[in-house]
Amino acid sequence: MTKTPEIAVTGATGQLGGRVARRLADRGAAQLLLVRDPARAPQLPGASLARAGFTDHDAVRDALRGVPTVLMVSASESPDRVRQHRTFVDAARAAGVGHLVYISFVGAAPDATFTHARDHWHTEQHIRASGMGFTFLRDNLYADFFPALAGDDGVIRGPAGQGRVAAVAQDDIADVATIVLGDPAGHAGRTYDLTGPEALSLQEVAAVLSRTTGRTVSYHPETVAEAYRSRAVYQAADWLVEAWVSTYTAIAAGELAPVSDAVPTLTGRPATALADLLAPS
Ligand SMILES: NC(=O)c1ccc[n+]([C@@H]2O[C@H](COP(=O)([O-])OP(=O)(O)OC[C@H]3O[C@@H](n4cnc5c(N)ncnc54)[C@H](OP(=O)(O)O)[C@@H]3O)[C@@H](O)[C@H]2O)c1
Repeated sequence: MTKTPEIAVTGATGQLGGRVARRLADRGAAQLLLVRDPARAPQLPGASLARAGFTDHDAVRDALRGVPTVLMVSASESPDRVRQHRTFVDAARAAGVGHLVYISFVGAAPDATFTHARDHWHTEQHIRASGMGFTFLRDNLYADFFPALAGDDGVIRGPAGQGRVAAVAQDDIADVATIVLGDPAGHAGRTYDLTGPEALSLQEVAAVLSRTTGRTVSYHPETVAEAYRSRAVYQAADWLVEAWVSTYTAIAAGELAPVSDAVPTLTGRPATALADLLAPS
């Protein structure tokens, strides 16, 4: 007989939510995976499935009834992501969820340089106002994606100047999320900045990528005007180009540089360095 889920997880078809769902299954947790496409959900012991996107208020509410704790992985970036998040939060509240663990972003603020970080601040505010218990996991950039920063020519281009970034490994975030989900009351009202163990300049990132990936990678610090010009070829929407460019200007502004001790404090082991994450096994 399937046990009543004690935790619901969104984003389980993706990288981060999938990592958390697997860890919870390894711990024998009864969990509900809230997915948009059940055919793509991971098959895990102790996991049941419900189909609901963030904007399906009633489907989310019905699926979450009786589930005390929810991991909310932020939705894919879009111009109306905050509205999607608000709908999900309202539905969770209507279902009687007691605690929401939300995947946020370091330096979330209404005027954050990285435009996506503003969405996270607005979402956090809505969660705070909902009256549910919460824990915010404010992640730095995902170190796992750093190999993709370099173009086909091996050059990382962006207006980051000599700024530094304390990127975090998704496995470290998943470890922290699993710990928090196992004891939500112990982390109620807390905001944790999740970073790697060091802040690297993009020149240093390029050197790590060269050492670990076998291709020669370098960093070219663009001006902001150059950055918009070099991305024009993609013919992407303005909000998306602004987000891409502001990833780098946020680094230049020092907003992604602070190193937090939350990963080692919560997991009892050091945060993963970029070089170790990318080292060939
Ligand atoms: N810190 C960073 O560097 C960084 C970088 C990229 C993204 N992010 C944020 O972190 C989140 C997790 O990263 P990831 O690597 O796990 O991304 P991912 O592999 O793309 O997974 C995103 C997951 O969220 C689900 N999802 C997206 N929009 C949704 C919606 N409107 N309603 C319900 N489910 C939705 C997706 O479901 P489907 O499979 O149905 O699409 C998928 O399971 C991203 O969604 C994004 O908000 C952070």
